[in-house]
Amino acid sequence: MLKTKYLGLDLKSPIIVGASEMTSNVDKIKRLEEAGAAAIVTKSLFEEEIILKNNKWREEIAQYDDINAEMGTIFPDMDVDAAKEHLYWVNKTKEAVSIPVIASLNCVNKEAWIEYAKELEQAGADAIEANMYSYSFGVTKNPAEIEDKRIGILKEIKKVVNIPVSVKISPHYTSIFTFVTNLDQAGVDGVVLFNRLFNPDIDIEKEVEVSRFHLTDSTRNGSSLRWIGLLSGKVGLDLCANNGVESGEDMIKMILAGASAVEVVSTVYRHGMGQIGVMEKTLTDWMERKGYNSIDEFKGKLSKVKISNPWAYERTQYIKMLLKGEYEI
Ligand SMILES: Cc1cc2nc3c(=O)[nH]c(=O)nc-3n(C[C@H](O)[C@H](O)[C@H](O)COP(=O)(O)O)c2cc1C
Repeated sequence: MLKTKYLGLDLKSPIIVGASEMTSNVDKIKRLEEAGAAAIVTKSLFEEEIILKNNKWREEIAQYDDINAEMGTIFPDMDVDAAKEHLYWVNKTKEAVSIPVIASLNCVNKEAWIEYAKELEQAGADAIEANMYSYSFGVTKNPAEIEDKRIGILKEIKKVVNIPVSVKISPHYTSIFTFVTNLDQAGVDGVVLFNRLFNPDIDIEKEVEVSRFHLTDSTRNGSSLRWIGLLSGKVGLDLCANNGVESGEDMIKMILAGASAVEVVSTVYRHGMGQIGVMEKTLTDWMERKGYNSIDEFKGKLSKVKISNPWAYERTQYIKMLLKGEYEI
């Protein structure tokens, strides 16, 4: 009854556990599967983290050069390769669970994107989720160039892998519609809306900058709902909701707007793994009450192309709301 297709993968329900510390270890992933997750997205393979880890290891091992000069000759080929470790771990995860394993990838250089995408496929990943985000802090780059470069990388990835590829995007594009349409035309199989970024914060007592990650709740999912509703039926790729999908009700809204699946993280941290079952039950009960036998029967039913008041998704300014007297506080 809850079955859905996402990126061509058969999922037993629309609930995917998104990339996080929970999906960074085989035992926790097995527990997520037992709790009912339909798929998981692994913690990202971050190119920058790989470089840092490898450099740190080389620095540490160099400290022993003077103490034990023979070490280099005793272990001439010994080297740490953090990327290999990650790939090995993805492979072990795949062996340990029967739900689809979507491998998250976040790189900087084009060569790394392509190489690691190939290796993740070889490690057994069922799909790749490209976590494509970096701020452009300079004023030297034309925004179109940045987007074209990303599309170019995705086209190359699509050429070298046979598994589906999705892209997790941030909400910071001038035209999300154009970018997602370009992703669709580049052959990308799905898009995750939206990635949540670390925001800077300042401790006013200590007068220092701090980095905090705040868990989300339902109040955060408006942008995802808006863009899923606007894009559904307009692009061919699959839409996956992320960012503030806290309850079964939130998930139902996203599917009505056009999502094939949802990725959840904060709600599982906040309420525990049992939340997956709670969300599943809310969905089942609602479908029974409404007389739906499958997700496809109501997926996208309230997308912009299907509703009588398409204005709902486009309303961004309070003034119109106030004039029409259509507000609820
Ligand atoms: C502790 C933690 C670690 C995360 N690690 C990753 C990661 O490795 N890659 C990634 O794409 N997103 C990562 N995220 C972001 C989540 O996948 C997700 O996009 C974000 O939390 C928004 O979803 P939510 O509202 O359900 O929490 C992480 C989030 C948390 C809380």
